[in-house]
Amino acid sequence: MPCPALPDGFDLTDPDLLHHRVPLPEFAELRRTEPVRWIPQPHGIAGFADAGYWAVTRHADVKYVSTHPELFSSSLNTAIIRFNEHIERDAIEAQRLILLNMDPPEHTRVRQIVQRGFTPRSIRALEDRLRARAEAIAAAARARSGPFDFVTEVACELPLQAIAELIGVPQDDRSKIFDWSNKMIAYDDPEYAITEEVGAQSAAEIIAYAMNMAAERKRCPAHDIVTTLVAAEDEGNLNSDEFGFFVLMLAVAGNETTRNAITHGMHAFLTHPGQWDLFRRERPSTTAEEIVRWATPVNSFQRTATQDTELGGVLVRKGDRVGLFYASANHDPEVFTDPDTFDITRDPNPHLGFGGGGPHYCLGKSLAVLEIDLIFNAVADAMPGLRLTDPPRRLRSAWINGVKELRVRAG
Ligand code: HEM
Repeated sequence: MPCPALPDGFDLTDPDLLHHRVPLPEFAELRRTEPVRWIPQPHGIAGFADAGYWAVTRHADVKYVSTHPELFSSSLNTAIIRFNEHIERDAIEAQRLILLNMDPPEHTRVRQIVQRGFTPRSIRALEDRLRARAEAIAAAARARSGPFDFVTEVACELPLQAIAELIGVPQDDRSKIFDWSNKMIAYDDPEYAITEEVGAQSAAEIIAYAMNMAAERKRCPAHDIVTTLVAAEDEGNLNSDEFGFFVLMLAVAGNETTRNAITHGMHAFLTHPGQWDLFRRERPSTTAEEIVRWATPVNSFQRTATQDTELGGVLVRKGDRVGLFYASANHDPEVFTDPDTFDITRDPNPHLGFGGGGPHYCLGKSLAVLEIDLIFNAVADAMPGLRLTDPPRRLRSAWINGVKELRVRAG
């Protein structure tokens, strides 16, 4: 039965929709009445079968698509955005060099290499340094006399430092990477006055920086992850271009996502004081996963059907775009009891905030969970009486469920 409550022209990739709120009532309606629904887009893009996409909103269907890469390809771009006539085909071609936009067997080859940098041992090796960073960040914020912005003072810093530590970016260069990464994500938001050209230029700067790093390590190997990934020019390692695009991916994938999980998590605690009290007392190990479910920092990713196939009772045709709405799947009552309740003791918590479990499942999950744990432990110790002074200001983005400002006061 068609979904009656959604008006004509309704588009889940409209940045203005997410600018105000996550469309949870609409998701609930879609899950109930039309869980795989065709959303037409007037400005399509050449090469796709039709101008529009299938919105997949149920947990089971999002999982199914994610775990069947042979039916649903990633190579025609995975960021589901509101395509318009300004987006060039070339921009999509370039994105194929990014891990997220690869299909097996190429994806399998590159993923096997890069995951050497994300072994439990390499993440554990960062823990003490990241804990010290988290404590220093919380102590500096506590020292503020008046209200301050939790996003810039607390949530931004640790994710950036974690990636920089992981790939060994020297301290002096870290703010450059941070700045470039912000510009790539924020161009949908007019407040930042960042054009698509500036966004693309920032991506190019990150790639060039990383390629330089790779070239240096080839000349002069060191005991670090860059050397491990690029040292020998053979099938078992990345070439400099691949390394450049990998670092670009980390700068976006590891930065904005974790920052927004931390910010939404803090906002959830401040608006659910009982959960904050519980966290301060008991520090449940299930907290970070519930924060990611609740926040769902990545609203959606997209796949493209490789053949005609049935999904959730509809026929998806070869070439159709398919949008995976994690934000909806994470509130699916078929899977979660009281899905709209923020409960840091939720267990099990099979949320899809890190993806639907297929080959692209988030490579940085353990690092992200560690960062979230460390920062909330540090904040709870340093600022147990933290208070909200203003409502959050949301990022205008169709893709990232972001907060650009969260004004708080230490006590
Ligand atoms: C992929 C979410 C943190 C690196 C993904 C995907 C999602 C996601 C939804 C796509 C999964 C799919 O298509 O099935 C998140 C969230 C994070 C987070 C919510 C924080 C709370 C990180 C961190 C890093 C990272 C800290 C690394 C430093 C990656 C990479 C991929 C990925 C490399 C691509 C994997 C592939 O294509 O094989 N992430 N992520 N992520 N993430 Fe994360």
